[in-house]
Amino acid sequence: MKFPISGVDVECHKWDSFQHPEKSGSCDLLFSNGNLLDLGVWRMKTAERSTMVRTLVANQSFNSLKEKQMKVSHFFRHWFIAFCLFFVCAGGFAQAQPAKQEFQPQVGQEGKDVVWVPTPQALVDKMLDIAKVTPKDYVIDLGSGDGRTVITAAKRGAKALGIEYNPDMVELSKRNAAKEGVGDKAQFTKADLFASDFSQATVITMFLLPDINLKLRPKILNLKPGTRIVSNTFDMGEWTDDETAIVDKGCTNWCTAHLWIVPAKVDGTWQLGQGELALKQTFQMISGTLKSGNNTAQITNGKLHGDQITFTAGGVQYTGHVNGNAMEGTANNGKWSATRRR
Ligand SMILES: C[S@@+](CC[C@H](N)C(=O)[O-])C[C@H]1O[C@@H](n2cnc3c(N)ncnc32)[C@H](O)[C@@H]1O
Repeated sequence: MKFPISGVDVECHKWDSFQHPEKSGSCDLLFSNGNLLDLGVWRMKTAERSTMVRTLVANQSFNSLKEKQMKVSHFFRHWFIAFCLFFVCAGGFAQAQPAKQEFQPQVGQEGKDVVWVPTPQALVDKMLDIAKVTPKDYVIDLGSGDGRTVITAAKRGAKALGIEYNPDMVELSKRNAAKEGVGDKAQFTKADLFASDFSQATVITMFLLPDINLKLRPKILNLKPGTRIVSNTFDMGEWTDDETAIVDKGCTNWCTAHLWIVPAKVDGTWQLGQGELALKQTFQMISGTLKSGNNTAQITNGKLHGDQITFTAGGVQYTGHVNGNAMEGTANNGKWSATRRR
């Protein structure tokens, strides 16, 4: 069945009339100029056939085309939207994520063996003062917290290392050092202080606990004579300090610093000229006798300050320095020397 519509022949293949063949029906295959316009069921009323068919064809073709186009464009649009959404969402998600919070240390936070409490800056300064830190020093802070002691030492020109178990504190310290412009001299390592080698230090700083100090003491006493040890507040048991300093300005808690100088090891018997020097050493304190012929003089005021030794025997004051199994110095404006016998 053909329908002339505005000069265009529209042909219906498969026309079904369902009321009256001239009045209404449906078309399943609709052609125009031999080309398939569409597949489907088109209902039309005869009276309005031309209009309806045209409308239907046009509309349907249009709709169909539009639908196809829309399907295609929907396809792309969906993907485009999905694509955009992905980025928008990803961006949004990224923005929605709270910016990675910089680690904020809390005073009293757990540490492996000691909680974190920072040394007041005024005491840090005092600790480095009494240790007489210079640019020649290598300062190691055991349990370095936020890095303040290491950074302060580095600002004085010293090379400094912080040994800290908490990795967040280590990263924080590195950031702090960089901010202070001493990232090169102030180094930090994430490590257990008990498993660390700090034998190269010339100055050890620490703010730990009395029992930890005691545990570290044998290792500290084996450090190079003259190594300075400074502790915030806590002592070393019966190893009395060589100096105590208290900060009363700008410091309300933890304001006492103790300094120890690692003494040389002199305990034993020495040959001093024709005499025998028998020394008993308790940390930096020395006692004993100096025997010469039938005379035995008690050692008094015997003390070690690193490798520097002083003592009095028979009314003569001896000063000198120790170098392993040898000592030498002056006494009564004359020179003396001694070598270890055993
Ligand atoms: C009292 S804070 C002192 C911090 C810093 N030295 C100061 O004076 O400001 C002790 C520090 O030691 C750290 N610490 C505890 N046990 C440790 C261990 N076994 N090895 C390394 N660091 C440790 C803690 O995380 C803490 O930062």
